[in-house]
Amino acid sequence: MAAGATLVSMHEPRTAVVIVAAGSGTRLGLGEPKAFVRVAGRTLLGHAVASVLGMTSPAQIVVVAPTDRVETAASIARELAGPVADLVTAVAGGATRQESVAAGLAAVRGSVDVVLVHDAARAFTPSSLFDTVADAARSTRAGVLPVLPVADTIKQVTRDGAVVGTPDRAELAAAQTPQGFPREELVDAYAAATVEHTDDAALFAAAGHAVTTVSGDPLAFKVTTPWDLSRAETLAAGRSRDVPAFRSGIGLDVHAFDPESPLWLGGVYWPDEPGLKGHSDGDAVCHAICDALLSAAGLGDIGGRFGTADDRFAGAHGDVFIRETVRLVAGAGYEVVNVAVQVIANQPKLARRRVELEQNLSGLAGAPVSVSATTSDGLGFPGRGEGLTALATALIRSVN
Ligand code: CTP
Ligand code: MG
Repeated sequence: MAAGATLVSMHEPRTAVVIVAAGSGTRLGLGEPKAFVRVAGRTLLGHAVASVLGMTSPAQIVVVAPTDRVETAASIARELAGPVADLVTAVAGGATRQESVAAGLAAVRGSVDVVLVHDAARAFTPSSLFDTVADAARSTRAGVLPVLPVADTIKQVTRDGAVVGTPDRAELAAAQTPQGFPREELVDAYAAATVEHTDDAALFAAAGHAVTTVSGDPLAFKVTTPWDLSRAETLAAGRSRDVPAFRSGIGLDVHAFDPESPLWLGGVYWPDEPGLKGHSDGDAVCHAICDALLSAAGLGDIGGRFGTADDRFAGAHGDVFIRETVRLVAGAGYEVVNVAVQVIANQPKLARRRVELEQNLSGLAGAPVSVSATTSDGLGFPGRGEGLTALATALIRSVN
């Protein structure tokens, strides 16, 4: 790839998740809007945002908050998002959930083709359910609803308590969020809605669109009552017991020199130096850092996460990979403590730009990155000047 070619931008997400958090939490009865109630030291809204940050592809996060809490909601989400804070938008909600969703939809970016609508109150929904719903909405172009089978027998009961029917349980399902939709159709369905619907799938179906289901997840339960809240605390406590406070990781990357290519190393351009071969720009420093972070978080490696088949990463510079990796690490519930990277090569001479490299990489990782260099004393491929090795270690801390 030539120097100066268009960067693949991580800032044009194709998916948006509208997180509605503008309700008052009457049934919880804590005198505080529900999304701002804390479980395990983090607001329900914060838990919900962290789940979205764990999606495999970046999504715009539109938080819909009570009018007097928009700034608070924005800072909760931005702090969690760290280096990808510009994916966060916060707007004021309305008197009903439907009005709140409509306000969120109005803030969805132009690049987005699939919108997920999610209740902040379903704070413990796993990231994988967001991925499943987004993929299904994109491939089917229908509305997508996560559902769970109903365990209890359901009765149809009149207002004065008489049982008038027992619907066949096999035909019933409990609806959850996130619910996913093709963006244009959802916006049109909202514009056409004349009555209040209990969820977005109902509103979408009322506009004449198909709605299909995927398997929901018990962890996507809605925090409604004090009992739900204590259950959430128990779940979170169990989870944090299982998670070590700190984890370390290691990453190594090797690329051969290619005199025909420009050199990108450590996320910066090196004029008049032979470049490196690779599917992307061959920036071994950035790739080793990504591998160290992914390894620390137990998220596999760069090849598995950013496959060569994914055209978002073809020709991408190292900064794109590091930002995306830090987002995945945050989604897994960790923040970066520090990273160290060592380059083993005869050239380029790193010492003259070490401070610049460290500043650039620390900015991308949101934590100190130290850079060092050595030669191999003339031995092996680095000694013969055939290629360059970068070795990184990373330390991350659980934020749950
Ligand atoms: N919601 C919203 N705007 C409203 C009402 C609800 O954004 N005007 C959101 C809530 O914040 C919640 C989701 O819709 O994340 C589901 O609503 P619900 O569980 O009913 O939450 P609350 O309305 O806050 O709770 P309650 O009904 O007990 O007051
Ligand atoms: Mg409500």
